[in-house]
Amino acid sequence: MVEPINPPPRLLMGPGPINADPRVLRAMSAPLLGQFDPVFREYMKQAAELYRGVFQTKNRWTLLVDGTARAAIEAALVSLIEPGDRVLVPVFGRFGHLKVEIAKRCGAEVRALETPWGTVFPPDVLEKAIREFRPRLVAVSHGDTSTTMAQPLSDLGNLCRANEAILYVDATATLGGMDLPADAWQLDVVSAGLQKCLGGPPGSAPLTINDRTAERIMRRRHTEAGLRERNEPEGEGPIIRSNYFDLAMIMDYWSDKALNHHTEATTMLYAAHECARILLEEGLPNSFARHARASKAMVAGLQAMGLKLYGDQQHKMPNVTGVYIPAGVDGEAVRQALLEQHGIEIGTSFGPLRGRIWRIGTMGYNARAEAVEQTLRALEAVLAVYR
Ligand SMILES: Cc1ncc(COP(=O)(O)O)c(C=O)c1O
Repeated sequence: MVEPINPPPRLLMGPGPINADPRVLRAMSAPLLGQFDPVFREYMKQAAELYRGVFQTKNRWTLLVDGTARAAIEAALVSLIEPGDRVLVPVFGRFGHLKVEIAKRCGAEVRALETPWGTVFPPDVLEKAIREFRPRLVAVSHGDTSTTMAQPLSDLGNLCRANEAILYVDATATLGGMDLPADAWQLDVVSAGLQKCLGGPPGSAPLTINDRTAERIMRRRHTEAGLRERNEPEGEGPIIRSNYFDLAMIMDYWSDKALNHHTEATTMLYAAHECARILLEEGLPNSFARHARASKAMVAGLQAMGLKLYGDQQHKMPNVTGVYIPAGVDGEAVRQALLEQHGIEIGTSFGPLRGRIWRIGTMGYNARAEAVEQTLRALEAVLAVYR
């Protein structure tokens, strides 16, 4: 027999996942309930209400998609895009490219607007692209962990509305760590994952949809053959081309209709519920300030070691810092020594940044002075050998 799983202690200071808050892990050990148990349905309602607080919205349709953050991205795009729709994706890192790929799989006519990695888009560039291309959907990341940059979004919702486009925001990297008021900024759909600033494990993807967008999705609502009542029509509009990620079906499942769809990932719902409780108990502004403080401390420590920061610092996310690997240093050897000798994980990078920068996260449960200091001490000790 193989041994039971017994992971070594690790401090996860990469771009996610991070160490889950112990309270979240405790919540996950609660006994399972059936998904139609009235007690469980109440937990679902509570989770929806808690995430209204996290997303700063009144949206009725606030729910969890089962899967990692990418599950909600895919659910949003496949449910919003009809084949042939024009979709604009501002790409400032890997996760922009991901949205381009998913939109193409959905049959969209996609325009990828690119800016060099390490930068974000000035508002007038986005405005010009929207006016020229006239997309039905704009799909953008708030923060992209691949480059550590955050795109300013406060005016984009208004611009999209004026140009009759729906705005989808992937807030996987920032929700809970940076301000993103969905209603005040007129963001039509926003989604995230638990494993970054929300301080949970990967596997549940909170999502919110405003009414005008929900109506559009519901116009494509279909009911599975095995669930339809006698003589009930199959549905209307072009069918959403995924069953698992069909948001109309997922909305029917989360509504009081409680129409069966997938088997809810009970344990992940407990996790998401506790993540939001912890965040709202702390207070959103306090959490944003804690992330900013941890980032400031990390940046100051790295600079004190003579390391150079990556990217446009005015637009750096407060929860991930990119730092150049010093010339002549084997970045992977340093990461390995940190892991093996100090039990600390920091992030590598990919695409155009492969081998050039490390990415160090200070997010969720690990946006704490103690975690920052431990990482800086260990990195200094390892660099003394490898530099
Ligand atoms: C902006 C963004 N979107 C999506 C993802 C993908 O999330 P997941 O791996 O949970 O599917 C990430 C992960 O780093 C991310 O930073």
